[in-house]
Amino acid sequence: MEEIIRLEGITKYFPGVVANDNVSLTIYKGEIHAIVGENGAGKSTLMKIIYGLYKPDKGEIYINGKKVNINSPKIAISYGIGMVHQHFMLIPPFTVIENIILGSEVKNGISLNFKKAEETLNDIINSLGFKIDLYEKVENLSVGEAQRVEILKLLYRRAEILILDEPTAVLAPQEVEELFSILRKLSSQGKTIIFISHKLNEVLNISDRVSVMRRGKLVNTVNTKETNKFELAQMMVGREVFLKVDKAKREKGEEIFRVEDIWVRGRKGLDVVKGVSFNIREGEILGIAGVEGNGQSELIEAIVGLLPLKKGKILFKNKDITLERIRQRRLYFGHIPEDRHKRGLILDFSVAENCILGLHYFDRFSKGIFIDYSKVYKHANEIVEKYQVKTPSIKIPIRNLSGGNQQKIVLGRELSFSPDFLIAAQPTRGLDIGATEFVHQLLVDLRNQGKAVLLVSADLDEILNLSDRILVMYNGEIVGSFSQSEVDEKELGYYMTGVKKQTELKEALI
Ligand SMILES: Nc1ncnc2c1ncn2[C@@H]1O[C@H](COP(=O)(O)OP(=O)(O)OP(=O)(O)O)[C@@H](O)[C@H]1O
Ligand SMILES: [Mg+2]
Repeated sequence: MEEIIRLEGITKYFPGVVANDNVSLTIYKGEIHAIVGENGAGKSTLMKIIYGLYKPDKGEIYINGKKVNINSPKIAISYGIGMVHQHFMLIPPFTVIENIILGSEVKNGISLNFKKAEETLNDIINSLGFKIDLYEKVENLSVGEAQRVEILKLLYRRAEILILDEPTAVLAPQEVEELFSILRKLSSQGKTIIFISHKLNEVLNISDRVSVMRRGKLVNTVNTKETNKFELAQMMVGREVFLKVDKAKREKGEEIFRVEDIWVRGRKGLDVVKGVSFNIREGEILGIAGVEGNGQSELIEAIVGLLPLKKGKILFKNKDITLERIRQRRLYFGHIPEDRHKRGLILDFSVAENCILGLHYFDRFSKGIFIDYSKVYKHANEIVEKYQVKTPSIKIPIRNLSGGNQQKIVLGRELSFSPDFLIAAQPTRGLDIGATEFVHQLLVDLRNQGKAVLLVSADLDEILNLSDRILVMYNGEIVGSFSQSEVDEKELGYYMTGVKKQTELKEALI
């Protein structure tokens, strides 16, 4: 095996943490190398060092055997290193091709040479076997397509090493398969891929080797063929992980929540939720499965009051709350929003302040018209302890916490006022397996305590493991309804992709 990157003794300190602790790692040319580890283990930091976004405090990087200094992404690209970030860096109103050649060197006098770029790009696209319209605006693309544009952008810049930080966290199952097929083709063309994921099935499926990180250290690198899920989980967490929650059968309780014939108009003026009705009872987890972008987000936004209803009724414990304002509704349910950066957190606020976002007008945190910080800190410390949030202090900006730890803060906050109804949208996206296990257990505990949970997820394992009833949303409508025991992944897939549709939704309202 020919080495392409070698890291020696990479160490990176942040205030209060050693994010990378003496990490040495060799990556071979043409391999797909997965990196796994708990939230905060230091994976993204290590990648940002290779990509020139952070400077290591100690250690050396070798590319093709030569020691290099990567002081910026520009230099990284000149060494053939490219990175696809978790949050895409594309400009929505620009076309695909504009986004790709933007800032790149291929220029023809003063005007960009589109013709030449188009040829190059079409060659790349054909070699990878997918389709994309180069003249479509990026804002009209699905998440999976936008990701392909990011990859194209790197290849156009002649990247030989592609770093993908949790690329599948935002993808639907079918899109994951498409991405993997592209990655396999790239690897067969001799490109090297570094792939970060929390989903061990994916890692086992796609990678040649896996490196495990824990608390900043590189614990081990193993051949994928010679390991399994349980061994990886154990190396990551340092203890046994069960990977499945136990859920006892429960009797149906009183109805907690109901929506009737909900219609929502989307941002582009079209109906995106069309006549959705369902209820949830005490002691129940209702799962809504669906490929992203089929109206689930707008349905939740309408329920919590962020989007207006065009038509329909929302009832909480038999009380009509359709016309109540967000602040009022906030008292009825906890809400874990799918996009924690947009809705769940204010990144420049401290961890402690984020622990009371939206809750600060509750009496318990105020002294007259002021916020009582001693109470806020006490509350934040309780959340940090209960949910084992890894942070050096509750006073630092939450931006500096790893993704999983940010999510734990949202969860802790939303459950801190013991709501009877919890709306959990993609609650474990980006969480490591230990944290996922923790959240799953938490949702099941809430259910066992007689609370109602609405779980919206694109992760079918999660839906099937947790839900008592399952609805499938497609193109703004509920197209299938099932009790947990009567359906499997494959069958759900048919409904999620619009191949099948039920005429009578017997499990939606019970
Ligand atoms: N810019 C920063 N400033 C301060 N601390 C940081 C910064 N970036 C990361 N950290 C800290 O460094 C540690 C490693 O974080 P990193 O983001 O590399 O973890 P990760 O393995 O990618 O986690 P996740 O799976 O949650 O994405 C964490 O404790 C994190 O809080
Ligand atoms: Mg990360």
